[in-house]
Formats: sequence, C-alpha cells, structure tokens
Amino acid sequence: MQLDDLSGVLEPATGGEPAQSCWVIGPSGSGKTSTSRFLLEELHVDFGVPWVRVECVGASRWELLRDIAAEHPKVAQHNGMGTAQLLTKLDDADSDPFLIVLDEFDGLEVPEVLIDLDRIDNVSMICIGHDEAEAIASVPNSVDDLRNGPTVRFEPYTTKAMVKILQARADTGLQPGVVDDDQLERIADEVAGSARYGVQSLRSAVELGEERGHTSVTDEDVADSFEHAKARIREQLLASLSRQYHVVYRVIREAGEDGIRPADLLERYREQSDDPRGRQAVMKYRKKLKRYGLIDCEGDGSSRWHRWWAVDDTLKAPLREPVL
Ligand SMILES: Nc1ncnc2c1ncn2[C@@H]1O[C@H](COP(=O)(O)OP(=O)(O)OP(=O)(O)O)[C@@H](O)[C@H]1O
Ligand SMILES: [Mg+2]
Repeated sequence: MQLDDLSGVLEPATGGEPAQSCWVIGPSGSGKTSTSRFLLEELHVDFGVPWVRVECVGASRWELLRDIAAEHPKVAQHNGMGTAQLLTKLDDADSDPFLIVLDEFDGLEVPEVLIDLDRIDNVSMICIGHDEAEAIASVPNSVDDLRNGPTVRFEPYTTKAMVKILQARADTGLQPGVVDDDQLERIADEVAGSARYGVQSLRSAVELGEERGHTSVTDEDVADSFEHAKARIREQLLASLSRQYHVVYRVIREAGEDGIRPADLLERYREQSDDPRGRQAVMKYRKKLKRYGLIDCEGDGSSRWHRWWAVDDTLKAPLREPVL
C-alpha cells in the first residue's frame, strides 16, 4: 500500500537520520496530497519530525524559501529577509531531519530552488507530481539524490476502496438514509478511481437533492451529480492555479469554440499579461490546464496548427479585468 511505501522511505527520520528524497507520483485525485499530509502529521506527532508542505505552482524562489524557513525548527527569525539572507539562515541551520513536501511539483518554475534545498543539512524532499519522467527531467543535474530517489506510486482507487471512502463520508456528514448503498456503488463505479471526483459527486448529489426538495437523494440526483461535480472540480482546480495560468486560460476561453493556435495564444497572452513568461512556460501552463480538464485541443496538441479551446465556456478565469 502506498502509505506503507512512503512510510518506509521516511522511516529513518523517525530515528534522527535523514531520509532519502523521494517522488510521490500518481493521477489526480488518487490521494497523494491527503495521504502525505496524514503520514507527515503522524510522524510529527509521534516522533517530533518537523515538516512543511509548499505548493510549487507559480511560486517564486523567495516565496518557497520564505515558507520553508518559517517552519524550519532552527530558523528563529525569517521575517523581512531576502532570498540571499534566507539561504544563509537555512544553510547555517544544522538540525535533525526536516521533511519538505513540494506539492504540485509540475508547477515548479524555479528549479534552482532544488539546488538550494539540497544544500541544507538533513533535509529530505518529498516531491508530488503526475508524470515521473517529466518531473525528473526538470531537476538540475547536480541534485542527484533527488534524481535517483525512490518513487512511491499512487494508483487510482479501486471501486471497493472508493465505496469505503464514500461510506465514511456519508456516515460522518449525512443523516442516516439520505443516500443508500446502491447509490454509493453507482458513484464509486462512475468516478474512475478519483477520490476528488467521488467525494464531490456525493456532495453534488446531496446538494441537487436539497435544491429539488427531496428528503433523500434520488437516482436522478445521482445521475445528474456527475456533470455538476465535474463543473465544481474544474472551478476549484482553476482557482488553485496562479495568475499566469489564469491569463493563458482567459485568452483560450475568449477565443471561443473555434479555439486558438499556439502562436496566436502566445501573442495575446503577452499582450494581456502584466508579467509575461516565455514560450516554454506557456507550453507548460497549457499542459497543466489540459491535464486538469480545463482546456482541450485538436489531436494531441503537439502541432503549431492544432487549436486549443476551453472545455467549459461558462467558466471564467478568476481574474479582475484589466483597468483600461
Ligand atoms: N483515502 C481517502 N479517504 C478519504 N478521502 C480521500 C482519500 N483520498 C483522497 N481523499 C479525498 O479526495 C480528494 C482528493 O485527494 P488528494 O487531494 O489527496 O488527491 P491528489 O492525488 O493530491 O490529487 P492532485 O494530483 O489533483 O493534487 C481530497 O479532497 C481528499 O479529501
Ligand atoms: Mg494533490
């Protein structure tokens, strides 16, 4: 089981030895973030191992170092410090093992921070991502502990495991009888192993039932919950991304159903962004937006003639419109 695998990798930290840096890889909604959080909190409570979790999407080197320094047990003061000062503080902080979770690793735009973190004593990086080859390729050569680190692989939940997760949610969050076992099975069957999709579908079914004045969830509420849940998830995932992703998304959405070619996308993005990034970065944003099911493209999107469009044209980017 994935929890045991990750626990095995981090085990040395419980005895005061540094654990190997490692990868946590698996599809969206397979429980990577929640399982890692659960385990690290347990290590903290039971063995006093300090840890921090940072989200890489759109974060600058300074922001990442600041958030990490804030949780490092031997860095007493970090307020108002610049990147160089934070680095000195962290380099000088000799300490017992310290675990750093770099979540949403595919959104990391400053790989040099991995060199910074690699230099700090007794630090282990736990990098959470979707695509192993792509993630490893983005690590600077000198950080070979991480490049060669072990991988803990998360698989989509089985239908049986998903039923259990949904049952537990229903037991804690709902009055008895609001949803029946067949309905939970139906949801578990539909959501292809994604706990995020499963949990949201259950929530959506209940919400739709309430809106429709039902005292318990009907099969029709369940049938309609899936599209409702997908829309909610798209909204949450889009909100979790940073400003540059939002600008790229807005440009694609504004192109309408005909879609937009990469060259035009890049040009309009540059016009609209207050801090435009390069072509490679825009390709990366596009890839993540597609992985999140927010945009789609013709073919595999590899050609400069392939068009890109928003999956849900009613979903706006959470951006304030520019003041003209
Ligand atoms: N074993 C579980 N029991 C109960 N709920 C779970 C479990 N695993 C995941 N969930 C729920 O499913 C949702 C998605 O899980 P999580 O965020 O851990 O997925 P993830 O693999 O990190 O996805 P992503 O790659 O999109 O970040 C969370 O809201 C979480 O509460
Ligand atoms: Mg996650």
